[in-house]
Amino acid sequence: MTETVAVVGGTGTLGAPVVRHLLDRGASVFVLSRNATNVPAGAEHRRVDLASGEGLGAALAGATVVVDTANSNKGAEDVLVAGTRRLLEAGAAAGVGHHLAISIIGIDQVPMKYYRAKLAQEAAIESGPIPFSILRASQFHQLLDMALSAAARFGVRPTGAAKVQPIDPDVVAARLADAALAGPAGRLSEIAGPKVQTLSELSRTWAAARGKRRLPLPVPSWGKMGKAVAAGALCNPAATTAGKDFEEWLRHE
Ligand SMILES: NC(=O)c1ccc[n+]([C@@H]2O[C@H](COP(=O)([O-])OP(=O)(O)OC[C@H]3O[C@@H](n4cnc5c(N)ncnc54)[C@H](OP(=O)(O)O)[C@@H]3O)[C@@H](O)[C@H]2O)c1
Repeated sequence: MTETVAVVGGTGTLGAPVVRHLLDRGASVFVLSRNATNVPAGAEHRRVDLASGEGLGAALAGATVVVDTANSNKGAEDVLVAGTRRLLEAGAAAGVGHHLAISIIGIDQVPMKYYRAKLAQEAAIESGPIPFSILRASQFHQLLDMALSAAARFGVRPTGAAKVQPIDPDVVAARLADAALAGPAGRLSEIAGPKVQTLSELSRTWAAARGKRRLPLPVPSWGKMGKAVAAGALCNPAATTAGKDFEEWLRHE
């Protein structure tokens, strides 16, 4: 059967390659977001706003699978938690048979507001009305690139023992596309990048690749959050995949 997949946040860093991989696999694809930027030929854009629920009912008409790759840092409660509840309700009404969402490795060990919202999003899905799958991934290369670029604008290069295992979102997207078409499977095995590296190693790599010499700024691993991240809570060496490490990604992106 050809699945009709609604990719929520299908214009984003992760969502856009998910849409591409689904089209490559022969699925029919609706891209759900507020703005219709970055929608490839072959996919249909349907406007929704998770923060208000606007458009959800109409946008899900005909969808058999929902892949939720939406994101909001500032509006995490509204978009990821309340928005997920709205999405599940609208999905159930539309007869969606599989709700697949992306989450993050280690969110239960690192006390951060955004991660609390991601945990609440997972809980809403697990107790929701639609058979589900949840994939936890490590940080995307783009996130580190953005954070290090921002620090560089202030003239510094953050260093420290924090450990990250960054991944190319294209690799995550391929796994999500396969999972979307495979049917509901609950908690999927986690996915992480090819190398666990410290903030010092990653920022040195970034500075060399971008040709930006900056003053090293030590970021201490204080408190429960700092200690957990330095101990590798956001990484999972057993979930290591092939694909570009941060240095290779910087060279090709
Ligand atoms: N970034 C990482 O390192 C990382 C790592 C692991 C997991 N994740 C997870 O991956 C997911 C996607 O992250 P990302 O970095 O790809 O996000 P992103 O690039 O910021 O994309 C966010 C997407 O969500 C849409 N969106 C935002 N607000 C919305 C709203 N109110 N209603 C409907 N759509 C909305 C955006 O489109 P419009 O603005 O046009 O609406 C866009 O398509 C998140 O769940 C995140 O927790 C991220």
